[in-house]
Amino acid sequence: MNAKELKKAYLEFFKKKGHTIIPGSSLIPEHDPTVLFTTAGMHPLVPYLLGQTHPAGKRLANVQRCIRTQDIDEVGDATHTTFFEMLGNWSLGDYFKKEAIMWSLEFLTSTLKLPLQRLAVTCFAGDADAPKDQEAALVWKSLGMPEQRLSFLPKKDNWWGPAGTTGPCGPDTEIFYWVSDSPPPTVFNPKNKNWVEIWNDVFLQYNKTDAGKFVPLQQKNVDTGLGVERVTMILQGKNTVFDSELFQPIFAKISELTDTKPSEKNIRSYRIIADHMRAATFVLGDERGIGPSNVDQGYVVRRFIRRVIRHTKLLGSAKDFTSEIAKVIIKMYSSDYPLLEQKKTFILSELKKEEDKFEQTLEHGLKEFQKIANNTKILDSNQAFLLFQSYGFPLEMIKELATEQGIQVDEKGFAAEFNKHQELSRVGAEKKFKGGLSESSDVTKKLHTATHLLNEALRQVVSKDITQRGSNITPERLRFDFNCDRKLTPEEIKKVENLVNEKIAQTLPITRTEMSLDDARKKGAQAEFGAKYSERVSVYAIGNFSLEVCGGPHVENTKELGHFKIIKEESSAAGIRRIKAVVD
Ligand code: ALA
Repeated sequence: MNAKELKKAYLEFFKKKGHTIIPGSSLIPEHDPTVLFTTAGMHPLVPYLLGQTHPAGKRLANVQRCIRTQDIDEVGDATHTTFFEMLGNWSLGDYFKKEAIMWSLEFLTSTLKLPLQRLAVTCFAGDADAPKDQEAALVWKSLGMPEQRLSFLPKKDNWWGPAGTTGPCGPDTEIFYWVSDSPPPTVFNPKNKNWVEIWNDVFLQYNKTDAGKFVPLQQKNVDTGLGVERVTMILQGKNTVFDSELFQPIFAKISELTDTKPSEKNIRSYRIIADHMRAATFVLGDERGIGPSNVDQGYVVRRFIRRVIRHTKLLGSAKDFTSEIAKVIIKMYSSDYPLLEQKKTFILSELKKEEDKFEQTLEHGLKEFQKIANNTKILDSNQAFLLFQSYGFPLEMIKELATEQGIQVDEKGFAAEFNKHQELSRVGAEKKFKGGLSESSDVTKKLHTATHLLNEALRQVVSKDITQRGSNITPERLRFDFNCDRKLTPEEIKKVENLVNEKIAQTLPITRTEMSLDDARKKGAQAEFGAKYSERVSVYAIGNFSLEVCGGPHVENTKELGHFKIIKEESSAAGIRRIKAVVD
C-alpha cells in the first residue's frame, strides 16, 4: 500500500464509522498568536473541542499537513521530520475511549493487516492532576493486548496538550510498532528505538487553566493522530521514513543534481535536504503562502532554505538546486494539493531568490567561521552574532557547524546579543516554535468580531471587491489583509473607523447559523479568498451589517467591543494591504 492508498483507506474506514470527512486547514493558523504553524489536526478544531457546535457533526476525520519545528534537531534520524501529514479522527463529546481504541486497533490490524504481535501500547500512569488511566488499559486488554505489551508512563510521555499554555488536554494512549527485522520481544520496553510510535489516541477530558489547574471538561473528546510517513514506511517494509516512496523521488533528484549517492557519510544531509524542502515548499504553496523573510513563518522558511543550501554544499555544488527539488515535491503532491501546482511560479521564484541571496554570503561566512574555529573551542556571543547578522547564518546552522568541529556555542550570550539588537521578533519566533494554541480570551473574541466589522466597512467604504486575504489576532491587536492595489487615503481610514464605531454603538447582536457552503455563498456571506471550507459551515451575522463564513468564537453583542481604532495601514504584498487595529 502506498501513502495515497493509506490516506484513502483511513478516510473510508472512519466514514463507515459515522465520521464526516472535513478538509485539512492551512499550515498557517488563523487567529492564533501563540504558534507559527498548524502542529496537529486538532489545532484548527480547538473551539469545537471546547464546546462550540461543529457544523459537520460530532464525528470528524481528515488529513492535516503539519509542521513541528521543535523536532528540527532530530531530523536526520530514521523517523523525524518537520513536515508531515497527520491522519486524525475526532469525537466532539460523542464516543470515548472504548470506540477510539477499538477502531484504532481494527484499522491497523484488519484494514492495514499489521500483526497484533508487533504492536505495543502505553497508557497514562496517573498523578496529582488526574488518575491512572485504567479505563484505556482495560479496553486494550479486552481487545487482546497482552499485559507485557502495555506500559504505564507519566505525564511527560502519556499526556497530550494543551499545545499552548491553556486549553484542552488529557491522558493519551500511544500505539507503537516493532520495526526491526528481528522478532519483537515479548516484553515491551518503550525506550527501545525499534518500537516506533505511530498513533496517538488522546482523551481531551481536561482544560488547563491560566492558573495551571486541570479542570474536567464537560464535553469529553477524542483526538487522534496517525503519522502518514511512519505508517507508509511500515507498509512498505522500510527501516526509515526516508526509504519510503515519500522521499525516494526527492533523494533521486538530490543524487542527480549533486552527482552523489546516499551513503552513511552523507545520509544526514540527504535527509535534512529532503525534509526541509518539503516543509519550505508546503509553506510557500499554502493558501496563506509565505515567502522567506526575517520574521515569524517567513523566518522559518528562510532557515529551512538556508540549511538546505548549506547541506547541498556539503554534498557538492548545484545550481538552482532548491527549485529543482521543489518541482519534484510539487509533482508528487499536486493531485492531493492542487494549490501547489497553481502556486508553482511563486514557489520556484521565491526559492531561487533566496538561494541566490544566501549564496552571496555563505562562502564568506564559512571562511569567517573557519577562521574563528581555528582559534577557539567556544564560539562567543559576538562571534556567533557576527555570523548571524553579517552572513545570515541561522542559529541552528551556527550550532551545527560548531558541533561538526567540536566547538561549543555560547547560546545564552547569543540570545542576549539578540535582545540588545532588538531582534525581539526573531526570539519571539523561537519561542513560538514550541507550539501553542489559540486562547479564546475575551479580548481576542472582541478583536475577532471587530475584524468582521472592519471587513464589511472596507467593502462599503473602499470597494465591494475587497475580500479577506489573511487575518491574525494577538491579545494586543487585530491584523487584517485584503486585496487593494493602493494606499488608503486618510479620509477613507477615518470613514472606515467611524462606520465600525457606529455599528458598535448600535448594539448589534452576533448570531451563528449553520448551512451549506453553497447557501452561505448565495446569501452573500464573505469567505476568505482561497481558503478551504467544509461542505457545511458556520455563518456569523452581525445584525444586518455583516455576514461571514467563520469558525468563531465571537462576542454576543457589538456593545462589548469598546472603541475601534486603526493604528496602521501598510502594504503587505503586491496588491495586498494590511491594517492593524485595536479596540479599547
Ligand atoms: N493531537 C495528538 C498528537 O498530535 C493526536 O499527537
